[in-house]
Amino acid sequence: MKSDVHDEQMTQVYGHIYEDLYDWKPAAMDQARQIIHKNLIESEIQPDQLADMNVLNIGTGRETMVFHEFGARNVYHFDVSPKSVYNLTELARRDDQFSNIHSCRLDICETENLGVSEGIDFVYLSGVLHHLHDPAHAMQTIFNVLNPDARLFFRIYRSGCLAFFVVDFIRRFICFDDAEQVDSLFYGLLEDKSDAGLLHQDLYDDFFVPVLRLFDPEQVNRWFRTHGFEPILEQSFPLYDHSDTSSAGQGWSLNYQWTDPSMTKRTFLPFPSHVDQMSNIPYVESYIRLTVKQMRQFLGQADKIDPGTKIRVALQLYQVSQLYRQKDTVEAAAKHLEIQNIIQEVLPDIP
Ligand SMILES: C[S@@+](CC[C@H](N)C(=O)[O-])C[C@H]1O[C@@H](n2cnc3c(N)ncnc32)[C@H](O)[C@@H]1O
Repeated sequence: MKSDVHDEQMTQVYGHIYEDLYDWKPAAMDQARQIIHKNLIESEIQPDQLADMNVLNIGTGRETMVFHEFGARNVYHFDVSPKSVYNLTELARRDDQFSNIHSCRLDICETENLGVSEGIDFVYLSGVLHHLHDPAHAMQTIFNVLNPDARLFFRIYRSGCLAFFVVDFIRRFICFDDAEQVDSLFYGLLEDKSDAGLLHQDLYDDFFVPVLRLFDPEQVNRWFRTHGFEPILEQSFPLYDHSDTSSAGQGWSLNYQWTDPSMTKRTFLPFPSHVDQMSNIPYVESYIRLTVKQMRQFLGQADKIDPGTKIRVALQLYQVSQLYRQKDTVEAAAKHLEIQNIIQEVLPDIP
C-alpha cells in the first residue's frame, strides 16, 4: 500500500543524494556508460543493435541519455520524481537531435497506460524494482507495451548479504524524520573520511527511501518464468553469505527474454514478497542467530532508547556492514561480533 508521502519522500531522497546524476556530470555519465555497456552484453545485446530497439528506462535520466548516445531508436523514460522528467523534456523540446527521448512523470505502479507509441524491446531498470511499492502492477503495465522477444534487465539489492541484513534491521527503528539528525551526526562519527561522500549517498538511500524490498532471486526467476519469460543467464544464488566482499556482492543482475507472450496474458500472480532478513532466512551459524536475538532485544526496547543513540547505533552498524568497501577478506563471525558489541553497548543502559 502506497503511503501519502511516498512521491514526496522518493523525490527528496534522490534529490538530496543524486545531484550529480540528475545534472549528468561527466563522472556520473562515464560510470553509467560503462555499467550499461556491461549490462547490454550480459543481456546479449550488442550496442549497435539498439538502433532498431525501443528502450524503457526509469531513473535520474542519465541512463536515458546513455541509451540515446548509444543510438537507441527511442528511449521512453518515466519517473515519479519531476526532476529528470523536466530535464529530459526540456532537452527534447529545445534540440531535435533528442527527439527520440520521451519522458513522462508518473508512478509506474499506479499507471495503466504508458502512452508508448511503439512497442518496447528492452526494459532497463537498474536499482528500481526493489523500490517499487507495487511491482506486480508495474510489471503488468510494462508487459502490455512489450514487443515479442523483448528483453528485461533488472539490478536488484542482494537479499542475504551482510549489508542488507543490517539495513533491514536499521529500517525498523530509523525513519525519514531522522534524516536531518543523521546528516548532522554522520561526518562527526566517521573515522575514515576517505570514502565519506559515497558512503553517505548509499546510507541516505538505504535508510530513507520509502520502499526497500529484498527479493529472493530464485522466486523472481520463477515469477518471470510463470509469466512467459526465460532467464538469459543461468545463475545460482546462495541464500545468504555474510562474508562476500566483492563489489557485486550487494546486488544481483537479472535478465530475461519474453519467449511466450501467451503465458503473460493467461496468468497474473502476486510478485514475490520481501525477504525479512531476521526471520525468513534459516541461518545455520550460531553467531548470526545470536545477532538476530540481540537485534530483537534492541527492537523490543527501542522506544526507551533516545533518538540520538539510535542514530549512532544505526551509523556504526552501517559502517561495519558495508563489506564491499573493505579491501581484505572478512570473517563473518568477526563482523557479527562487532555488530553484537555495538548493540550490547546500548542494551545494558536501557532503564
Ligand atoms: C535508485 S534510483 C535509480 C537510479 C538509476 N539507476 C540511475 O542511474 O538513474 C530509483 C529510481 O526509481 C524511481 N521510482 C521509484 N519508485 C517509482 C515508481 N513507483 N514510479 C516511477 N518511478 C519510481 C525513483 O524516483 C528513482 O529515480
